[in-house]
Formats: sequence, structure tokens, C-alpha cells
Amino acid sequence: DSAPEARTPPMGWNSWNHFAEKVTDADVRAAADALVASGMRDAGYVYVNIDDSWEGDRDAGGNIQSNKKFPDMKALADYVHSKGLKIGIYSSPGPKTCAGYEGSYNHEEQDAKSYAGWGFDYLKYDQCSFGDTIRQEAGDDLVKASAMQRAAYEKMHQALQHTHHPVVYSFCQYGLYAVWRWGAESGANLWRTTGDIKDNWSQMSLIGFQQAGLEKFAGPGHWNDPDMLEVGNGHMSTIEYQTHMSLWAILAAPLLAGNDLSAMTEDTRSILLNKDVIAIDQDRLGRAGYRVWAEGPLEIWERQLENGHKAIALFNRGESPMSFPVDAATLGIKSGAEFTDVWQKKTTVLKNGSEPLVLNHGVTLLRSR
Ligand code: DGJ
Repeated sequence: DSAPEARTPPMGWNSWNHFAEKVTDADVRAAADALVASGMRDAGYVYVNIDDSWEGDRDAGGNIQSNKKFPDMKALADYVHSKGLKIGIYSSPGPKTCAGYEGSYNHEEQDAKSYAGWGFDYLKYDQCSFGDTIRQEAGDDLVKASAMQRAAYEKMHQALQHTHHPVVYSFCQYGLYAVWRWGAESGANLWRTTGDIKDNWSQMSLIGFQQAGLEKFAGPGHWNDPDMLEVGNGHMSTIEYQTHMSLWAILAAPLLAGNDLSAMTEDTRSILLNKDVIAIDQDRLGRAGYRVWAEGPLEIWERQLENGHKAIALFNRGESPMSFPVDAATLGIKSGAEFTDVWQKKTTVLKNGSEPLVLNHGVTLLRSR
């Protein structure tokens, strides 16, 4: 693994989940300010990523321009950099983005140069209308379809490399064609493994728990991406958001906050800023967690950490509080071992025969000590 970018899963903020097409230059600056003021930048959230809807028309020379919501991309990038942060941009391999703005189709080299000239450090490349191009040209031929998608993502990777500007390259193609098997080879630092997350329990938990089995494809410089965070967007409970954050940390997923950072509640702040959960996500060993046990709605996941440490998460996906049967052998621990409870901030002992209770939709996230 020589990829210098995204040695640990990228952390930061993205405009889409909260602002969608309404996002403006002022919102992005406010997000950068809030990352600093809230302490999030210092906790590791350094990427400020603009999603779809910044794009304007191309000039006579074919160069992409920003639209009137974003008067000056270079000035915006300079502002974000002046705060000790990095900045991300968004495009599509298709002629149009998902929201109908200008994509990079047949303009890859030119667009990569524009992003580098403006100073962008991160590109999210969203399939969108390229799906239609694939359908038109490949029809039912899955092999051809998957080769076309791969080629389109590799084309932009080449273009980014030609700029000699270090860029985190994020594939957004909804997990199509089992991208986890070829994403790293094609230049991805992260690849989306699923469709879009929504700010509700059923979609968040479906996406998160269906990552089981993908852990072997993740590692330093190349990560599975189960999509951005919804923490703080208002339609899940505090417990559900803690489960969301815990699962993403166990999965070694990118932590891209998707809320309005300038209007955070204390609960939101304490979830996004919990040092122990961030440390699990960002563990330098770079090994993603995996499911070790399941019984109906109850699932136990663990993640190997640096220096022989381990994180264990007891997830209750069910609709009522339930206890977990502790079996030290299943967990690969010594009966009686001590753990830090990441959310309760207390010491917990796991021993054979104990039956820790976990609330519905809740988690007990533990880290060995
Ligand atoms: C689909 C992606 O999956 C979302 O994350 C977001 O980027 C939208 N497209 C923007 O149109």
C-alpha cells in the first residue's frame, strides 16, 4: 500500500445530506468556521466537501465554471485552506450529474486541471447519468457494463494523476458491479458500497449492517464507503445516532458529517466528537471490523486495533431491550476482561455468564484497556 492519501478513513463534512441543492458558498464557509469552532477540525474532521449543484456552464474553451451560488471557487478553496482544512469537490463521469448539472463526460482532463488550479484536495465522482450511457451501449451485457464503468472511473483517475496535485478520489456508484473487488486497483481511496443513506433508522441500519463480509477489501488508502453520516439531521433518536456512529467506526467507514454544523445540539456535538469512537474509526492498523455473532436482531461485531487492542460492539437491531449472552471464547477475550464503555464512559467487565442489556436500536460499544 503506497497510496499516501486516506491512510485512515477520510473525516470531514459534506454538503449533501442537509443542504442538497440549496448549498451556497456562504454555507460552505460557515461549515468550515463551525468545524474549527466546535473542535471538530482538531478531532480530525478536516475535509469540507461540496457535493452536487455547484456546477455552472462551460466557457467557450470548454472549461467548467461554477454557478452563481459559488462566485469564486479559488477564493472559497483559499478560505477553507486558511482555516487549516482541506476542500472537496464533486462531479460525474456522465454528461450530467444526478441533480442535472454539468458532468465531466469527455472533459475529464480539463476538469481535473480546473480542480487542481482552484486547489481542491478531494473529488467525489458520482455515476448519475453515466448509468444511462452504460445502459445504451452495454444493454444486458454485464461484463461490458462493468468494464465501461471501471474505464470511466480510471479515466478520471488518470486525469487527476496528471495534475500532480494530491487528491482523495471517492467513487460514488452505489456499490454496482461489486466495486469493492476492483475499486482500489482503479485508483479509489473509497468506494460507495450501497445506495443513498437516509436520515431514518431503517435505511441507515440496512446499509450499515449489510456491510458484513466486505471488511477484507478495506485497508489503508482504500476504504468501503457506506455513505455519509446523518447524525444530527433530526429524524433518528440520540441512541440511534450513537448506533450509526458506532457501526461506521467498527466498519472503518469515512466519517463525513452531513448535518448543519452551525446549528448543532449538545447531543449531536457529543456524538460527533466522542474521542473514543473516533479513535476506533481512525485506528492506524487500518483493519475494518467484522460480525462475529448474530442471533435474530442481536449482532456482535468486533474490530482489531493497534497494539493488540480490540473494539467490541453489541448491537440490538430489535424493537425492545434485550440482553446479550457473553461467551468469552466467541469474543476472543479472557472472561473477566475490562473494557471502556465508549458511550457510557465507564468500565465494563465482560465475563462468561454475564448478560449485558442493550436498548432497542441501541449499542454498547466497548474498547479493550
Ligand atoms: C447521489 C449520491 O449517492 C449522493 O450522495 C449525492 O451525491 C447525490 N447523488 C447528489 O446528486
